[in-house]
Amino acid sequence: MTSFSPSVADIQNAARALHRGELVAFPTETVYGLGADADQDAAVEQIFKLKGRPNNHPLIVHISSAQGVEHYAQDIPDFAQTLMERFWPGALTLILHKRANVAQAASAQSHTIGLRWPSHPVALALLETARALGVHGVAAPSANRFGRVSPTRAGHVRDEFGATLSLLDAGDCDIGIESTIVDCTRGEPILLRPGLIDQSTLQEALNRPVLRQDDLLAMSRPEGAHTRAFEATAPKASGTLASHYAPRARVKLMDSTSMLLEIERLGRKPPPELTGLSRESPQTIGVWSRDRAVHALPHAPHLVFKAMPALPQDCAHALFATLRDFDALGVSQIWVESPPSGVLWAGVADRLNRASHTEIQP
Ligand code: TXA
Ligand code: MG
Repeated sequence: MTSFSPSVADIQNAARALHRGELVAFPTETVYGLGADADQDAAVEQIFKLKGRPNNHPLIVHISSAQGVEHYAQDIPDFAQTLMERFWPGALTLILHKRANVAQAASAQSHTIGLRWPSHPVALALLETARALGVHGVAAPSANRFGRVSPTRAGHVRDEFGATLSLLDAGDCDIGIESTIVDCTRGEPILLRPGLIDQSTLQEALNRPVLRQDDLLAMSRPEGAHTRAFEATAPKASGTLASHYAPRARVKLMDSTSMLLEIERLGRKPPPELTGLSRESPQTIGVWSRDRAVHALPHAPHLVFKAMPALPQDCAHALFATLRDFDALGVSQIWVESPPSGVLWAGVADRLNRASHTEIQP
């Protein structure tokens, strides 16, 4: 880690660039972000443009002080205050009521704003240095093109945007999946995007239920006027689109039994989609599994195996880098063993489900 740490001069240059209205990619404990001064709309517009993200999808604003919260948010409910005290700095984004006339482009002209106080030392140093120049907060979505896999290493950001973008390189991101998002603007805490800070940990901290947006939508029965009200006011979250976090290869989720059967079937007789291909570019399948039996199978030239970690936090850490590594190998499909059920795996399961949807992939 230290060998990658940007110098004080690097951080000062990056903070000045933000102040001038330029973009800077920087590490956080979750994934790399693509940042701009949240109060300079022209700079924020550049983020949308570079990412190819529709500008009605709001960005998270990163802050590093209570004064930052004050600058952007108002009418903060007690439960949101509790979450801030308990989980900040850290991998939690809170959707709060926004003050008028701040972060207009970053919030996609909405009355709400997503705020996060990250814990990564380089992110904190950048935010603090920029704050001294008058930058109250840094709007930063994940530093990848819209719909694609989030970057967990500086090299991933380079792969997305090339060498001209200012980038602070601090090596691997610890967590590897994006922050948990809790909407605090609808009276009750609503979990919009699962992450390392899981639903049960949030509930324990608040001593009250935290509903998942997905559960609320599923509950829309005729008498559920309350639920429909939630639905109508549900903010847009691109990380919650059915198809997101997609690598180039097609991702297929399957349990380990089906995976074993499919691989054995492939081993005996290549399926139709693998026949008739040129020898120069044999179509291969990446296999990411926790099952030893899968890894013990005889190796076939059209299969590339990678071991999936057994613990959810290790799996989250490896997830996006593994999808990118498979893409770099040129595989046409990635077969992923379905994660176990349960709240601890919700963040990983969510990203994999979205990666395996194919609607918006080219
Ligand atoms: O871990 C993370 O959260 C990373 C790092 C860089 O902090 N950032 C990140 O940003 O994942 P992004 O833009 O890729 O995802 C932000 C999510 C989107 O789904 C966005 O729609 C949602 O947060 N969001 C932001 N502001 C919102 C708001 N006012 N209301 C509802 N959703 C919001
Ligand atoms: Mg993203």
